[in-house]
Amino acid sequence: MTDRQTVPELMDEKDVVELLLAQHSLIRDLFDEVERASAEDRPEAFQRLVRLLAVHETAEEEIVHPYARRKIDGGDAVVDDRLAEENEAKQLLMTMDKAGVDDPEFTANLALLRGAVTAHARSEERYEFTQLRARTSPAERRAMAVGVKAAEAIAPTHPHAGVESATKNLLVGTPVAMMDRARDVIRQAMGKTG
Ligand SMILES: [Fe+2]
Ligand SMILES: [Fe+2]
Repeated sequence: MTDRQTVPELMDEKDVVELLLAQHSLIRDLFDEVERASAEDRPEAFQRLVRLLAVHETAEEEIVHPYARRKIDGGDAVVDDRLAEENEAKQLLMTMDKAGVDDPEFTANLALLRGAVTAHARSEERYEFTQLRARTSPAERRAMAVGVKAAEAIAPTHPHAGVESATKNLLVGTPVAMMDRARDVIRQAMGKTG
């Protein structure tokens, strides 16, 4: 794996769909890492996964879904289904975060979460992103990428030595706190307030 794939803040894609697809594959990699992590490394690996999921799903909710709702055929239904899937995963993520990585149910819940997130990503790719790409201009997709990249910058997944602690804006706290923070950063980057 190259740095470009493993450190999202270094991804140079300028197209929102390409960025989100790259994050989907990064999310799969992080699930692998949490599954394989030793007991000692698991908290940090899980934290990285939670951070990327928080940033990724929040960016979709703030930027991509509202756009898809307006632009694609049957947009309302497609987006409502995606939001329901995201909420399901979010609930599970909050339960897991609260219980911690030492919870006896952690491994079973991780498998459930992975199944839900993977199915959700596949549905986005199939029913939402393909149409979105067909119905937007490269300039529109570049404009949407700005918010995704701003959010990515606070969720480094594999920083090299010293980088993580040097990232002042690193996302911390509960998944809900991370999502709130990501939302603020995205709205600021997209020039929206509140
Ligand atoms: Fe999503
Ligand atoms: Fe996604």
